[in-house]
Amino acid sequence: MIIAVDGPAASGKGELTQRLAKHFNYARLDTGKLYRAVGWRVISVGGDPSDETTATRAAKGLTANDLEAPELRSEIVAEAASKVAAIAAVRAVLVEFQRAFAANPPDGKSGAVIDGRDIGTTICPDAPCKIFLTADIEVRAERRVNQLHEQGTVAIYGRVLKDMKERDSRDTTRSVAPLEPAEDALVLDTSKMNADAVFTAALEFIASRTSD
Ligand code: DC
Repeated sequence: MIIAVDGPAASGKGELTQRLAKHFNYARLDTGKLYRAVGWRVISVGGDPSDETTATRAAKGLTANDLEAPELRSEIVAEAASKVAAIAAVRAVLVEFQRAFAANPPDGKSGAVIDGRDIGTTICPDAPCKIFLTADIEVRAERRVNQLHEQGTVAIYGRVLKDMKERDSRDTTRSVAPLEPAEDALVLDTSKMNADAVFTAALEFIASRTSD
């Protein structure tokens, strides 16, 4: 079983995929972390995340350890991630790992919940359950500011909003695997929904997709 959950930053994917993975006892993969880890590998040594050769080399050298770096949650790394994610060769390197995870979830789990931007469209186009979360950008920027404050990071709303607009634009207009809902995805606008309401709607949708 594969549940693909896509959507822009701070649309609620993280919370939803954690709840779904727990509920069904499936393995969860946050694919944004892969791109963040590649971005961090590049900028931590002063490299340019938009440079194809540098970024592709970083993607090829990715290790499990790189996914644990605390810096991955920062806004600087998010920006670098969005830049490396626009490079087709970087995406090509990361495709196999994601598909292998979906086909053979670790720890003998019987399913996978995968959080990303292109899971329903490119990585797992045959996934039986695809959910696309979205929300107004102002709401998402506010959520991100709150998350950053919880991490103990100083964040200014206007700056976060501006950066988020730039990243949204890069993620949706890139030529390779742009952020967009799959045709058969349930699209949920979470602007006015709390996490419980999103979870309930997702469970109903999954039940409807798996009942026959
Ligand atoms: O979800 P996130 O904020 O951690 O993602 C970081 C960046 O990686 C974001 O700009 C989009 C990109 N990304 C992607 O292109 N494809 C994915 N499957 C996941 C993330």
